[in-house]
Amino acid sequence: MATKITVKDFRDMKGSGHKISMLTAYDASMARLLDESKVDALLVGDSLGMVVLGYDSTVPVTMEQMLHHAGAVSRGTERSLVIGDMPFGSYQVSIEQTVANGVRFLKEAGCDCIKLEGGEEVCDGVRALVRAGVPVMGHLGLTPQTAGQLGGFKVQGKDMRAARKLVADARALEAAGAFAMVLECVPGPLAEVITEVVTIPTIGIGAGAGCDGQVLVTNDMLGLFEKFTPGFVKQYLKLSPDIKNAVQAFTREIDSNEFPASEHTFGSNEDFSRLLDEFR
Ligand code: KIV
Repeated sequence: MATKITVKDFRDMKGSGHKISMLTAYDASMARLLDESKVDALLVGDSLGMVVLGYDSTVPVTMEQMLHHAGAVSRGTERSLVIGDMPFGSYQVSIEQTVANGVRFLKEAGCDCIKLEGGEEVCDGVRALVRAGVPVMGHLGLTPQTAGQLGGFKVQGKDMRAARKLVADARALEAAGAFAMVLECVPGPLAEVITEVVTIPTIGIGAGAGCDGQVLVTNDMLGLFEKFTPGFVKQYLKLSPDIKNAVQAFTREIDSNEFPASEHTFGSNEDFSRLLDEFR
């Protein structure tokens, strides 16, 4: 049994010389593959809504959907830290509801911690979650749940005022007790400054190499999601054409009687000769 990475281990990785790796996962079989590949953390991201559930944004994703998939990921994981993403609406209504929903990720889905989007405006919730024993990862820069307010899926913090606000948000999250934060679509030099001014790990996505770690959506990096690929994604595989080729070979071979062959079939004609004689 592999030794589980804890929130403290994850936090201590900052400055250890090891760069943190994080990928999204939404089901047990992919989680097992990623876990066995020794990725440090698995994020059950609300990107689930777009890459798995077929929505156009992350906004419609519900707590029940997140818990359903987060439970599957936890069951498929031995070693990696499992992070449940709080969906839109689950931490905006009241502190009580924020804590109750955060607790559900740990109690019902077996997650190690949660992630939520936002800066100073979510810090009361972060403090309450941490006080209740729910470790929190922050998420700054491009926050997909409120992308409309940010002018769409665009790089954030491009001017001095916006950059200063992001640095202040990062400090506020750290002070509220967050153990790490995602920086999404932030200019590389700004992400480097944030990484220097906070003592907790920064995990970049479209934020350059200066962060303490990197995260990608697994379906993007494996070339499984063809609808839209952001410019910061590196595709380590292009699985979509391979999957289509395999499925076309399957349908062709069914048609031509090549599949299933004798090695895929239980029982030989000799074993069943009496039965065949009786019915034919
Ligand atoms: O939901 C998600 O997958 C995320 C990552 C893009 C960081 O929040």
